[in-house]
Amino acid sequence: MHTHTPVLLEETLELLAPKPGECALDCTLGLGGHSEAILRLTSPSGQLVGLDADTENLAAATKRLEQFGSRVHVLHANFRELPECLPLEYQTFDLILADLGLSSPHIDTAERGFTFRSDSDLDMRFDQTRGMTAAMLIASTDRITLRDIFNTYGEVPAAHRLTDALIDRRTTKPVRRSSDLVDVTKGVYGYKAHDHLPQIFQALRIAVNDEMVVLESLLSEAPKLLKSGGRFAVISYHSLEDRLVKQAMKRLATDEKDPITGAVSKKADFEILTAKPIVPGKKEVTDNPRSRSAHLRAIRFLEGYTPLP
Ligand SMILES: C[S@@+](CC[C@H](N)C(=O)[O-])C[C@H]1O[C@@H](n2cnc3c(N)ncnc32)[C@H](O)[C@@H]1O
Repeated sequence: MHTHTPVLLEETLELLAPKPGECALDCTLGLGGHSEAILRLTSPSGQLVGLDADTENLAAATKRLEQFGSRVHVLHANFRELPECLPLEYQTFDLILADLGLSSPHIDTAERGFTFRSDSDLDMRFDQTRGMTAAMLIASTDRITLRDIFNTYGEVPAAHRLTDALIDRRTTKPVRRSSDLVDVTKGVYGYKAHDHLPQIFQALRIAVNDEMVVLESLLSEAPKLLKSGGRFAVISYHSLEDRLVKQAMKRLATDEKDPITGAVSKKADFEILTAKPIVPGKKEVTDNPRSRSAHLRAIRFLEGYTPLP
């Protein structure tokens, strides 16, 4: 049976502060660890809508959360489909969580193709029911776009050399399996290949799942779904994501100013709850090394503010 240890669980609960009867949206249900804890704290009547792009995780979470009966509503959806994917009766929430990226079963299940540590088809999709796999992306993407993917999403050194090697290789034989990609990488970087494989696989995964674009969409839509006083928390796992989260939250919490006088023309609707990102302590990183890059940020939708005239 697969497991996934929820990251920064206590800290997330402290910021989201679930109360009995509140309504929650978990945009990345995973195996339901955070959701289970939220449901306990919102009992006896609090509701939770949980979505995930991955049908296998969704099935596991559904089973885990069965104990909460009709308080839970599970959806197979990408959070880029918010708010349209929501059931009509759930349009606003007291708390919203997005715990981005991979879950442990993605890494531990070789056939998903997320890791260079085992050989399998290069898939890397969270949602295996639709979209292009990493192998399809390598086969069909033009040279400049492919190089940009490695540069931007992985900061892969000499990304042009890796791109050229992949394009050379695909003219004769497809790059279909993780071992094919590892071979090409070794051909380019020699004994240093292992230093670069994590970034190369990360870059492809981000591109396959369009992770930066869907995150932008989430950061623009989720705050609109908060009830007055509602809290929105995001856990990200690499600096590109954290930068987007930080900027979006800062924008929401900044007063609008008259461009000529500089006077505040509209007070911000949100307050930042995390002056600095919250990161896991030593003990959590030791117990769960996969938490090591986590950054948690949160905002609150201010209640009862009065816009300035
Ligand atoms: C880090 S895990 C969440 C773990 C969860 N908090 C728990 O405690 O079990 C991230 C989950 O988000 C899902 N996911 C990633 N991107 C998504 C997206 N754009 N829309 C919906 N789900 C997504 C993944 O399939 C994965 O199950």
